Amino acid sequence: MPVVRPAAPADAAALAELAALTFPLACPPGTSPEAIAQHIATTLSVASFEGYLADPGRILLVSAAPEGLAGYTMLVRGEPQDADVAAAVTVRPTIELSKVYVHPDRHGRGVAGELVAATLVRAVEEGVRSVWLGVNSENARAIRFYGKSGFAIAGPRTYFVGDQPHSDHVMVALL
Ligand SMILES: CC(C)(COP(=O)(O)OP(=O)(O)OC[C@H]1O[C@@H](n2cnc3c(N)ncnc32)[C@H](O)[C@@H]1OP(=O)(O)O)[C@@H](O)C(=O)NCCC(=O)NCCS
Repeated sequence: MPVVRPAAPADAAALAELAALTFPLACPPGTSPEAIAQHIATTLSVASFEGYLADPGRILLVSAAPEGLAGYTMLVRGEPQDADVAAAVTVRPTIELSKVYVHPDRHGRGVAGELVAATLVRAVEEGVRSVWLGVNSENARAIRFYGKSGFAIAGPRTYFVGDQPHSDHVMVALL
């Protein structure tokens, strides 16, 4: 079983590789390959992850196996900037669970559950009272998984992949 630990600067390349592999799985079937490629190039590159790992406003955890990374999460500190999210998240202080991605070979094996449980413990250590996330409204597997992990749908938001707007659910877990 992989072990959950804080991400280190040396993980940047492996994180970018895992993100490029798993991000398309979170998009609905109609998403254009160009929009996905643009999103990966601009927000999930090695340089992007180097920036996230150096950012004191972000907390990254990885699920690490001897053969490589099995998954990762990213928490982002601070008040929600999106007006729809700010309206949906009524319990403060809060923190965003910005990314939850598990290698497809590890889906359905408890890796994601262990990773998110450790991430919620880390959020408790931050002193927040809720955790929020955005998930595509067609991503039934992730929505089911978040429901099992203590999150409930709290409202809608629009999320852009490239220049394409997507309908997300805002989901919130109370700590
Ligand atoms: C989301 C993710 C982290 C969840 O991890 P996982 O190992 O797949 O999660 P689990 O198998 O524990 O839970 C998924 C649940 O959805 C169910 N499920 C699977 N496919 C489904 C579908 N098409 N519709 C509805 N439910 C589905 C599973 O049966 C399971 O529920 P159960 O335990 O009651 O049987 C993982 O699937 C992932 O990384 N996906 C790709 C990236 C992604 O979408 N990330 C989220 C972005 S917000």
